[in-house]
Amino acid sequence: MMRFTTNAVADFEREHQRILRQGSPESMVLLKNDGILPLQSVQKVALYGSGARETIKGGTGSGDVNVRHFVTVEEGLENAGLTITTKQWLSDYGKLKKQDTDDYYGKLQAQAEKDGLNPMLAMMGKMPLEPDYDLKLTSDQPADVAVYVLARNSGEGSDRHPGAGDLQLTTTEKRDILALAAQYQQFVLVLNVGGMVDIAPVADAVPAVLLLSQLGMETGSALADVLLGESYPSGKLTATWAPIDRYSSTANFGNMDSTEYKEGVYVGYRYFDSMNITPAYPFGFGLGYTNFKLAAQPVELNHDQVQLAVDVDNVGKLAGKEVVQVYVSKPHGTVDVPYQELVAYAKTPELAAGEHAQVKLQFALKDLAVYFTSKAQMMLPAGDYVIRVGNSSRNTHVVAKLHLDQATVTAQYQHVGGETHFTDFVPATQAYSYAAEATELEQAPVIEIDPAAIETVSVQYSKQDQPELPAGERVDWPTFTDGKHSLTDFVAGLSNAELARIAVGHYVDTQDADDPNVIGSAGTTVAGSAGETTHVLDSLGLPTLIMADGPAGLRLSPKYTETADGQVQSLTSSFAGMAGADATEATVKADQPTFYQYCTAIPIGTAIAQSWNVDLAQAYGDLVGEEMALFNVDIWLAPALNIQRSPLDGRDFEYYSEDPLVAGLNAAAITRGVQSHPGKATTIKHFVANNQETNRQASNSVINERPLREIYLKGFEIAVKTAQPHTIMSSYNLLNGVHVPNRFDIMTNVLRDEWGFKGFAMTDWFTTGGVDMSGGQAKYAPTSAAGEIVAGNDLTMPGTPADTKAILAACKAGRVSRGQLQANALRILKVVYALSQY
Ligand code: BGC
Repeated sequence: MMRFTTNAVADFEREHQRILRQGSPESMVLLKNDGILPLQSVQKVALYGSGARETIKGGTGSGDVNVRHFVTVEEGLENAGLTITTKQWLSDYGKLKKQDTDDYYGKLQAQAEKDGLNPMLAMMGKMPLEPDYDLKLTSDQPADVAVYVLARNSGEGSDRHPGAGDLQLTTTEKRDILALAAQYQQFVLVLNVGGMVDIAPVADAVPAVLLLSQLGMETGSALADVLLGESYPSGKLTATWAPIDRYSSTANFGNMDSTEYKEGVYVGYRYFDSMNITPAYPFGFGLGYTNFKLAAQPVELNHDQVQLAVDVDNVGKLAGKEVVQVYVSKPHGTVDVPYQELVAYAKTPELAAGEHAQVKLQFALKDLAVYFTSKAQMMLPAGDYVIRVGNSSRNTHVVAKLHLDQATVTAQYQHVGGETHFTDFVPATQAYSYAAEATELEQAPVIEIDPAAIETVSVQYSKQDQPELPAGERVDWPTFTDGKHSLTDFVAGLSNAELARIAVGHYVDTQDADDPNVIGSAGTTVAGSAGETTHVLDSLGLPTLIMADGPAGLRLSPKYTETADGQVQSLTSSFAGMAGADATEATVKADQPTFYQYCTAIPIGTAIAQSWNVDLAQAYGDLVGEEMALFNVDIWLAPALNIQRSPLDGRDFEYYSEDPLVAGLNAAAITRGVQSHPGKATTIKHFVANNQETNRQASNSVINERPLREIYLKGFEIAVKTAQPHTIMSSYNLLNGVHVPNRFDIMTNVLRDEWGFKGFAMTDWFTTGGVDMSGGQAKYAPTSAAGEIVAGNDLTMPGTPADTKAILAACKAGRVSRGQLQANALRILKVVYALSQY
C-alpha cells in the first residue's frame, strides 16, 4: 500500500495512461470508410457534435471512475497539433447543453424533494435527451476535414430511451450531419457512445463512421492517433446494431413487475440470423485500415477437442490486426437451434502490409451441447455440425462438418431456475444464407465424431441442511502455523450472533437502515470504497476485506484526510460525477493531512470486449490489480458480464456482449489479470438475468430454463470454471418469482455443485430493502437476508443492523440452522484467509 501525499502525477498513472493509449484503438470499431481514413495531410479540423468537448469517458453510476483528468476529443486533436476551427460553435453548444442539463436535473431534484425522495436515488441514471437547437455550423476559417462527434450517456438506475435524443438521432443531429457530409469532402462521423445508436438516416451520406466508444482517460488522444493514422482501429462489434423495433427483446423489455424473456435463446445475432433480418451492422463486424485474407487449414478433431489453424494475410497497404471468428451451426434435431453460434475467436498480432500469421483456435465438443429441458440434459444432437470461419457473423465460410451419429449426453443436471407459463419463441422463417453456402456445405470435408470420446458429467447436488460443527473452544483467528487450529475450529468457537454478523458487511450499529449516503460508498477504511466485511471480530484478529467498484477502473474518493483517531474521511465524494450527489470538496483542517488516490479509468466493458483481444482484457485487469495493491483494496466489484439482451438496458455499457462466450472470456481474462496480484480478487456480477434497470431491485426476470442455461448463466460458468474469481455478486432482480440471492438452485446447485465455485457470494447493495428504489411501486418484497444463508448467498452487502437482526430472528425461529450459519461463515472466511495472507 502507498500513500500519496502530493497532488503530483505519479509514475504509475503515466504508465497506465500509456497502456491505455496504446490499447484503446483496439476497441474502436470502424463501421464505414470510403477511403478517407486515415486522414491525409490534415491541419485544420472543423469539430462539432455533443461529444467533441463534452466527451463521455464512460457511463454514470457505481461504474464511474473519479479521474484526475481525461482527454476529451477536442483536447486530443489539439494535443496532436491540429487546429480546431470551430471554437465558437463548441462554446455555444456547451452553454446550451449545460443549460438544458441543469434545467433537466433541476426539475427532477425539485420533484424528488417534493416527493420526499433522496435526489441522488431519484435521479439515478436519468439522462437528459440530447436537445434540438439552432446553431449555425460556423467555422472561423476553412478546414481540411469535418469531424462530428455524437455522444450518448447512460447509467445504472435507468434504462435508455428508444426515441430521438438517445437511441435515435435528433432532428438537429440529422440536419447537421447531412449538411457537413454535403459540405466537406473529408467528413468523419465519430460515435462516442456506450451502446447502439440508430444512424440509418445519415449512414449512406457520410463517408466514414468510427465507433469511438467510451475509452476512459485516453479517449481523445487515442482518437487522434487513429484519425491521423498513428494507429488503426481493430475492434469488432460485440452486439448487433439494428433499428430497435427489430430486436427480439423489444416487445418484452423493461416492465415494472415482470419481464418475460419470450425470445428464448434467440438473443442478438442468434435471432437476426435465424430470422434472416439484415442488421445495420452485424455482430462481429468491424473494418480496419487494411484488408485480410483468411484461409483455414483442415480442421482436426483430437479426442473431444476441435482444432483449427487459420492463415491470415494482410493484403492491404497499411498495418492492422484481424479477428478470426469461428461459428458452429448445430443440427436441427428434436429441438430448434439458432442459425449459428460463436464458439471460438482469436486476434492476430499486428500485421504489416503483406505480412502473414497463423492463428490457432480450439473448442471442445461439449461446448456445442444444447439444453434439453424435458430431460434436464446437455446433449449433442445427432447430425452435422457445420464449422464456419470468418471475420464477422455475416462473413464466414464453411470449413468442415463434424458428424455425430447418435445423440450424446454431455451433462445430466437437475432442473433449476423455476418455471414460466410460456414456451419460447421458435423461428419459423428460412434462416440467413449467402450465395455460395449450399455449394460450400456440399463440398465441406466431413469429420466423424466418436461418441465414446464425449464424457458425460453427472453432478452431486447439495442439500440445504448443513451439519453443525462439533462444539469447540474459542480460538483466535488461526494463523495455521501452529498446526493446532484450523479455520473450522475458529468457526466452531463462534456464537450464532457472531456468525450472523460475519454474514453481513461492516456497519456501525447506530447506522440508519435507509441512510442513502452509504450506497456504493459504505467503506470506512479506504475513502470512497463501496463496502467491507465485518469488523466485529477485530478483537479475535479477523481481518477485513475492502471492496471498491468498477468496472471501468477503481472508484475511490480522489482526496481524503485522516482524523486524529485514524478514521478516513473523503474530501470529495466517490460519486462526484453523479446527478444529485454532493460534489463539494470538504476543507481540511490545518492539522490534518491530505492524501490522494487518483485511479485510472479504463475503457467501458463493451469497449474492452470490442477489442476481441483477451490478452488486452487481462492487461487491463492487471492494471487495476496494481492500483488495488497501491490503495489497499482487496476486492474489485467487477467485471460485470450480464448479457446485452437489449440495447435499451441503461447498463449495457458496463457489460461485454450479447454473446455469452464473449462475456465469459472477457470476465475470465480480467479476473486473471486482477488475481495475478496476490491477495487481490474480482467479483463477477450481477448474477444472474439482471438485464434491465427499470425497477431493478424488484423486477422479475421470467425465463425458461434453456435460455437461462445457454445464454444467461453461460458467461458466468465460463468465468467461474476457467478463472475462479474469489467472489461473485448476486443480482437484485427476481428470477421466476424469487430473488436470485434467495435461490438455492442458482446460488448453490448451479454455482457450486455444477461449476465448482470456491469463493463467496455477496448481494448487490441494499437488496434486502434498506432503500426502496422503486418509488414505492414494487410488487415484490425485497430479498430476505435469512433466505440468503439458506440459499448459499453468503454475505449481505453493504449491510445494515436490520440484516443481522433478520438472520438471528430466523435462527431463533428455526428457519436458519447453526450448521447453515457455520457453513456460510466458513465460505466467507476461506476467502478472507486466502486474501489476507499477503
Ligand atoms: C450496483 C453494483 C455496485 C454496488 C456498489 C450497486 O448499486 O448495482 O454494481 O457494485 O452498487 O456500489
